[in-house]
This record gives sequence, structure tokens and C-alpha cells, in this order.
Amino acid sequence: MNTEAIPGTVYLVGAGPGDPGLLTIRAHRLLQTADVILPDDLVSDAVLDLASPSAQIIPVGKRCGQPRITQAEIHVLMLHHARAGSSVLRLKSGDPLIFGRAGEEIAALREAEIPFEIVPGITTAFAVAASLKTPLTDRTSASKLILATAHHAAGKLTLSPSWSGAFPDESTLVIYMPGRDFAALAASLVDSDIAQDTPCVAVSKASTIEEKVTATTLGNLGSAQIGPAPVILLIGRAIRLQ
Ligand SMILES: C[S@@+](CC[C@H](N)C(=O)[O-])C[C@H]1O[C@@H](n2cnc3c(N)ncnc32)[C@H](O)[C@@H]1O
Repeated sequence: MNTEAIPGTVYLVGAGPGDPGLLTIRAHRLLQTADVILPDDLVSDAVLDLASPSAQIIPVGKRCGQPRITQAEIHVLMLHHARAGSSVLRLKSGDPLIFGRAGEEIAALREAEIPFEIVPGITTAFAVAASLKTPLTDRTSASKLILATAHHAAGKLTLSPSWSGAFPDESTLVIYMPGRDFAALAASLVDSDIAQDTPCVAVSKASTIEEKVTATTLGNLGSAQIGPAPVILLIGRAIRLQ
């Protein structure tokens, strides 16, 4: 499995949370040998520093809902370089299959009959929990783990009272892309029957030197001082910082 990147093949690879020490050996090998690298915004410079000096690096991030490049354009780039005989590393932060639009890229690759491989990475939730030294599951308080996002394709908040019942008891809820309206988000979660005193931790810029951890409760989330994007929320009784 630890062969070099193969010409004409696309690799959808998880870059993990940013620390190169958390890359898989497979991801590292592909970084060293791919001809073309298409990284998302959240892929760290420290990870990209491991790329071959001869690799062509084409950033394809879409910041703050203001697309610099469309998803369709990313597909065109992937397919174009693979057809031209290059090995292509499509590098995504965390794990490529979690909130990374991998489904659309897989469909495009299948339709174009381009050979591809998927290499998992450490998703932000797992990296943050490890860094905070908190479990995400707990045999006394959290038998379920839910990975959710507060945004859908049109960029609107999706968490609302209509989610009522979606959060079973004894769950840990992790929210990716929570947006900035934490008061509205907290209100919709409380409406969905999550208790106000449920522990809630917001982590901004995890695994960077600017990381900011805000520990609060769901009821106080709206008034908490939370750092800048990217932010991830961990909510549940299993979340313990001490
Ligand atoms: C498009 S999703 C990508 C998720 C990624 N595929 C993963 O598995 O972690 C981007 C969201 O992941 C979370 N995220 C990614 N990197 C982060 C970081 N360094 N600190 C905090 N949250 C982060 C944020 O919720 C951000 O809005």
C-alpha cells in the first residue's frame, strides 16, 4: 500500500487537523510523490511543506462562503491533470469523507472513469477531543456520537426545532461549520430537547498556535466569547476538560 502516487490516478486524501505528525504514512508517501496537489484552505502549511519540491500545488479552497473556485472547477482540474497523466492529490483537512464534498468528487471520478483511491485522515472532532483529553463516548453518559453540521448547501442554518428527536439521550453531538450565530444555534438545540446545562466546548483554530478553547454550557453558548473560524463544537455530558 505504500507505493508512490501512480500517474493518471486521483487520491482523495485526509490531511488531518494540521500537525504533520497526525498524517497517515500513506498520506505522507503520496505527498512526497504526487505531481499535482489540490489542497483545501484548511490544509496546513506544515503538511504542504512535505510535498515534493517539483509538485504543482494549486490551492482550491472556498473561504467563508465566498467561492474563489467552484466545486465544478475543482472537478475539471482533477480530471484534466489525471487525464494528462499526472498523479493528483486532492488534499482535504481532517478526513476526506466527513463534510468534504467527497461524494460529488467520487461521482465525477466514477463518471470520467478515472482511477482513484481514498485515504482516511483524522477528523477534527477526534483531534480536538484528543487535544482536550476528553472522551467522546462514555459508558455511563454517552453511548452515541453524532457528527453534524449546522449548514446545508445553501449556507443556511439547518438546526431548528424540526430536528426535535434527532438527538437521543446519552449522545455526544459534534457540530462542524456551526456558523457565527451561536445564540440561535443554542436556542434551536435547546428546542430539540438538549438540556441547557449540557457541557459545550467550542474550539477555534484547533491544533494551531492560535487555538482558543471556550468551555461553557449550551445555555450560555450564545454569550460566550468564541474565537474566529474555523470553529467546532463538542456538546454532551461525556465532554470533560478536568
Ligand atoms: C468543510 S468542514 C471539513 C471537515 C474535515 N473534513 C474534517 O474531517 O475535520 C470544515 C469544518 O471543520 C471544522 N474544522 C476544520 N479544521 C478545524 C480547526 N483547525 N479548528 C476547528 N475546527 C476545524 C470546522 O467546523 C470547519 O468549519
